[in-house]
Order: sequence, then structure tokens, then C-alpha cells
Amino acid sequence: MDLHKNPRAVLGCFLIFSTFFPDASANFVFSVSHKFNGRDGRSLSELKAHDSRRHGRILADSASAVDLQLGGNGRPSETGLYFAKLRIGSPSKDYFVQVDTGSDILWVNCIDCTNCPKKSDIGVKLTLYDPKGSSSSKAVTCNQEFCTSKYNGQLPGCQPDLLCQYDVTYGDGSATAGYFVKDTIQFDKGTNGSVVFGCGARQSGQLDKSSEALDGILGFGQANSSVFSQLAASGKVKKQFAHCLDNVRGGGIFAIGQVVEPKVKNTTPLVRGQAHYNVVMEAIEVGGNVLQLPSDVFDTGSNAGTIIDSGTTLGYLPEEVFNAVMKKILAKQPDLKLHTVDDQFTCFQFSNNVDNGFPLVKLHFKNSASLTVYPHDYLFQLKEDVWCSGWQSSGMKSKSGDSMTLLGDLVLSNKLVIYDLENQMIGWTDYNCSSSIKVRNEKTGGVDTIGAHNLSSASTFTTGRLLLTFFLLISAVF
Ligand SMILES: *[C@@H]1O[C@H](CO)[C@@H](O)[C@H](O)[C@H]1NC(C)=O
Ligand SMILES: *[C@@H]1O[C@H](CO)[C@@H](O)[C@H](O)[C@H]1NC(C)=O
Ligand SMILES: *[C@@H]1O[C@H](CO)[C@@H](O)[C@H](O)[C@H]1NC(C)=O
Ligand SMILES: *[C@@H]1O[C@H](CO)[C@@H](O)[C@H](O)[C@H]1NC(C)=O
Repeated sequence: MDLHKNPRAVLGCFLIFSTFFPDASANFVFSVSHKFNGRDGRSLSELKAHDSRRHGRILADSASAVDLQLGGNGRPSETGLYFAKLRIGSPSKDYFVQVDTGSDILWVNCIDCTNCPKKSDIGVKLTLYDPKGSSSSKAVTCNQEFCTSKYNGQLPGCQPDLLCQYDVTYGDGSATAGYFVKDTIQFDKGTNGSVVFGCGARQSGQLDKSSEALDGILGFGQANSSVFSQLAASGKVKKQFAHCLDNVRGGGIFAIGQVVEPKVKNTTPLVRGQAHYNVVMEAIEVGGNVLQLPSDVFDTGSNAGTIIDSGTTLGYLPEEVFNAVMKKILAKQPDLKLHTVDDQFTCFQFSNNVDNGFPLVKLHFKNSASLTVYPHDYLFQLKEDVWCSGWQSSGMKSKSGDSMTLLGDLVLSNKLVIYDLENQMIGWTDYNCSSSIKVRNEKTGGVDTIGAHNLSSASTFTTGRLLLTFFLLISAVF
């Protein structure tokens, strides 16, 4: 598992900017010029941006809370991931994309892709995006501001008609490359917006396999290039979003906007200046006992700290933390016979209710925020009475200075998790993800109810799936 930055991505993974999402929302912000660090051709590009906005304003209108339809589940023996349905283009087509808070851009497989998967074992119909088949599709060239702002200036060799390229490598080594396009995306509740996203032309790693194939990945990172940042920059939604991933029934809730109900009291600050949603973990309690761990094991810094990532299925702890947690968890059942499945999962036979047989794991964060992980969340059922632990070792030691904790769906499921980037906070509360939440409508001042969705998928168990899931997207290189 390589969570380090990939040098190849230095040029490549920068992308977009800009949405021209129109509308007379009260807090629409016209802060175009200072958004760009672009050097050349500035006034021309500003003019274009202005025109696009005006064009957008004429086009659009709608509610401000954005409701994403979710499907899938975080069970490693089933889908192992959550995905959302987006409608893109004119006429619009449906695309199923993995929801990933660990990366930044949206990309979908494109028509000229040579090795994109043609079918998916997840059971969704795959669709290739064809820029020529959409009347609202526009090319994004390397001299446009989203490209220059992301590259901190114009790329060497940029000519006015060259497309803005992207190249992203994820934490599991999978990679996608292609070029940017701009097109209309429709969300539920009638929200339309023109956003920039990647048109995937070359995939590698897990991304060209059909086992876990989707049309693309929807990155919900904090960079200005994410779809969500583009929507927020238009003033249409607050720079806040929330998810409730339903690991019991599948699907769940995913909304962009400010959650007003339920109230979320457990909040912890985000570590500033980090590419990912990095928080400060301070202690771990198992069954009421605080684990004695080296003081530097949760230190933050590059390649260290605690990352919240919906694109990761399991929970990864530094080696020494993992060992201590597992020891305490298993201490409650000294008679269990452990066996290893697929070289990586610790499994055992257990025929009673796991919530009665195993301890709660409570994670403590800065600001006195705590997050409880229940046995039914951190253990997954392999078959009838065989259970496996979802906790994994990230193989890192604190002494090396690279001690990373990665909290994926295992920890995030069955909770409402809010990402408040306006206030640089992240928060959560136990919640029924099959119910609904209330999100402020910035336009009317009222609230929208966002309910749960459960897009259908064929989530049948196969042993092969188990292994593949493990390798699926850990986190993106920024
Ligand atoms: C969104 O766009 C589609 C087609 O591009 C259009 O049919 C629909 O009316 C638009 N909805 C809103 C609310 O603008
Ligand atoms: C992102 O956009 C905001 C304004 O929306 C701006 O203040 C900030 O500097 C931008 N960040 C980067 C890295 O370009
Ligand atoms: C969760 O909410 C759904 C929909 O409102 C409801 O049918 C279900 O009973 C709730 N589950 C629990 C455990 O409360
Ligand atoms: C969600 O979909 C899955 C698979 O399509 C199905 O097994 C499950 O019962 C559904 N859940 C609900 C609450 O409808």
C-alpha cells in the first residue's frame, strides 16, 4: 500500500476549476480574478469566465441542497464501496461513480478510452461519456484558468488548442489519465450546473478491471477542483456536505449543503494545509480501557495523521496500534480459533450476537470528540457463523515518522458525517441512514429534506471480490 505521493502526478493530477453555476442566491460570490494564480492571458480568461457565468445565469435555477443518489455498501464481502448516480450532458445519461472523500476530481470513462471496463460485476450498467454526443459539452484547454490555476501558471508547451490533461494516481496504485471537459450535471431536486471533470482515456490498476467497475470516481476532497468546491464557489451551496452510509441496508444519504437536522455535536477541527480530511486522534479506548500507546503514534504531518476517507472500505491503523487494538478485542473471547482468509483477514467462528461478544472501540479526537465503532461495524460476516475483523495494519511504525491511520467505511458507516469546510471542522453522530436529514436551502432560506436512496446493485458474494476490495482506492495523490 503506497500512500506516498507519486512523482508522476506532479504535473498530471492538477485539474480544473470553475463552475458557472448561476443563480440569484443571496450569497453568490463574484470573486473571480483573485481565485486564479494563473499568470498568462489573464484578462482574456477572466473575460471568458465572466461570459460563462453569465451564460450559466441565464440557464439555471433550482434548489440549493444537492441530493446524491447512493447505492452499494461497505461490506468487504459484498460491494465494498458506495456509489452515486449522476446525470451528465444534453441529452443526459446516467453515470455511476464511486464516492470518494479521499480524492479531488470527478472523472468518468470516456468514449476514446482504450482499456476502460465494458461491464461491471457490481451490477450497474456502464456508460462511456462522449463529448461529441452532448450538446452542452465544452473542451477545456490548457490556457483556461482552471488549468493555469491548478498548475500555478501555464504548462510548458501549452498552445491555445491543447486540452488540459489530468493524471491521478490513487493510494492503491490504480491510475487514471485523460483530459478535462466541461458539461452540465443534473442532480436530484432539479439542481443543474456546469462543472469541469475528467474524461478518462487510460486506466490502470483496478480501474480497468470489471470486478469493481463503475463509470468513474466522484472526488469530494477540499481542493477547488472538486465538483463540490465548484458548486460552493458558485454560491449555490455552502461549502459543506454530509454522508450517511448505510451498511445495514445499503445506499444511504449524501447531500451537499448545510445540515440543520440532526444537530451534530461531536466535531473536531481539520488539520490545516493537508490534502486530505485529516484530523487529530488522541487516544483509543477498547471496552472502556484506554490503550497505552507511544505518544507520537498519532502525530500529524505529511504521510502521517488520521485521514477520513469514504473511498476506503476498511480501517487501517499503524502496526503497534493495530496489535494493541486486536489484542484487546480478542481478549474478550480467549477460546476463539483464529484463521486467516486471503492472507489478510483475521477470521473466526462465532455464532452469537457479535455486539454482545466483543467490546466497543471508541476513538477520541481533539476537541473532546469521540466516535464509537460497534462490533457489528468493525466485524463483517464472511458466511453464516464466520466473522472477520475489518481492522487492518497500515504496516507503518511511529518511529519512522510515517504513521498513518486511515478511517474508511468501516468506521464511517451508519453515522451521519458532516464536512464543514467553511469552519474547517468535521463531525458525526450515530444515525439511521435509512431515514432523512434536513439541509438548508440557501436560496429560499428554508430547509430541504434529503432522504435515503438505495440504488440497486447485484452485490452477491464471491471470494474474489474480497481480495479486490482490499486493493480498491485507498486515497488519492493530491
Ligand atoms: C436541467 O437541465 C436539463 C437538460 O439539460 C433540463 O431539461 C432541465 O429543465 C434543467 N433543470 C433545471 C432546474 O434547470
Ligand atoms: C480556492 O478558492 C478560494 C475561493 O473560492 C480561494 O480563496 C483559494 O485561494 C483557492 N485555493 C487555491 C489553492 O487555489
Ligand atoms: C430507520 O428509518 C427507516 C425509515 O424511516 C425505518 O423504516 C426504520 O425502522 C428505522 N430503523 C431503525 C433501527 O430505527
Ligand atoms: C438495497 O438494495 C439491496 C440490493 O439491491 C437490497 O438487498 C436491500 O434490501 C435494499 N435495501 C432497502 C432498504 O431497500
